[in-house]
Amino acid sequence: MGDVLGIPHTTYRPRPLRSEVMELNSAVAILTGAGGGIGSAIARRLAAEGMSLVLADRDAVMLEHTVESLPEETVVELVVGDVGMAAHHEQLVSTATAMGELKLSVLNAGVYLPGLCWEIPLEQWELQMQVNFWGVLHGIRAAVPVMIEQGFGHVVATSSGAGLVATPALSPYVASKHAVVGLMESLHHELNRVAPAVHSSVICPGNIRTPMAANSRAAAGIETEHLLGEALLVAQAVRAGNDAGADADTVADALVQAVVENRFWVLPQPEVAWGALDRVQRIMDGREPIDLIG
Ligand SMILES: NC(=O)c1ccc[n+]([C@@H]2O[C@H](COP(=O)([O-])OP(=O)(O)OC[C@H]3O[C@@H](n4cnc5c(N)ncnc54)[C@H](O)[C@@H]3O)[C@@H](O)[C@H]2O)c1
Repeated sequence: MGDVLGIPHTTYRPRPLRSEVMELNSAVAILTGAGGGIGSAIARRLAAEGMSLVLADRDAVMLEHTVESLPEETVVELVVGDVGMAAHHEQLVSTATAMGELKLSVLNAGVYLPGLCWEIPLEQWELQMQVNFWGVLHGIRAAVPVMIEQGFGHVVATSSGAGLVATPALSPYVASKHAVVGLMESLHHELNRVAPAVHSSVICPGNIRTPMAANSRAAAGIETEHLLGEALLVAQAVRAGNDAGADADTVADALVQAVVENRFWVLPQPEVAWGALDRVQRIMDGREPIDLIG
């Protein structure tokens, strides 16, 4: 009997692979960031699967827009709140369990505010960690115990390609999204050991066409950014990339497929995987990290 990272196989319980198919219809899903570009596409996709939805966002008007785009028969509850607060997630879970079986929690809210890491105001660092990282951790801590107790469920977090490969002038975003990837991988291993019927996935999209730049400024209460030099060039390149990015439905389709097939990694665009592979190759070769902004 061999060891896995020094852990004897007797205590290591691999999950039975991919054969089980998760039925989504007539169960309940929680979705944060549901007012945004990717969130509203996920909401429509889950509604098309027949799921009842608890949709959450900090912005009530954006949530209403998402609801207007859903089929009329969709059962939906709206919760306005801040994903950075643990109590918000407790409210989402109690709303969901009052509606039926909580099968899915998609922790998707996110913000990015560009700048150089030593210049970005600390409150912008804190906001990005609060929404992107704590917004996922609080969601896990609220939903996973319920899923373990009921014996099924699936937690999904939206990280980013920036959670696998670092870019300049987005360090709080990169740090928070790397943290989400690490958190979700640890969660995956823990669930395999403790509750193999509860699953997890992490989504790492590349550029997706959404109003994220403007929404993030609104979340931070920033009217105009004061960026100069390299920070400005990178911010412009990131925005141009987003504007030319894939449709948000690409992410929603990949998410549903991964949940149904019970897959951990969700990379809707293959170029993200190539970037991650290039990073690992450079680590192995002892070469410089690549700057994807160019
Ligand atoms: N657009 C892209 O190119 C891209 C690429 C990779 C990953 N992502 C990730 O996808 C997710 C969705 O992003 P999007 O592109 O749809 O952006 P978006 O701005 O359109 O949607 C994000 C939503 O999160 C909400 N939100 C922000 N702060 C919040 C808070 N404190 N509490 C509750 N809700 C809050 C916003 O109101 C907004 O509706 C994010 O996690 C983002 O990091 C986006």
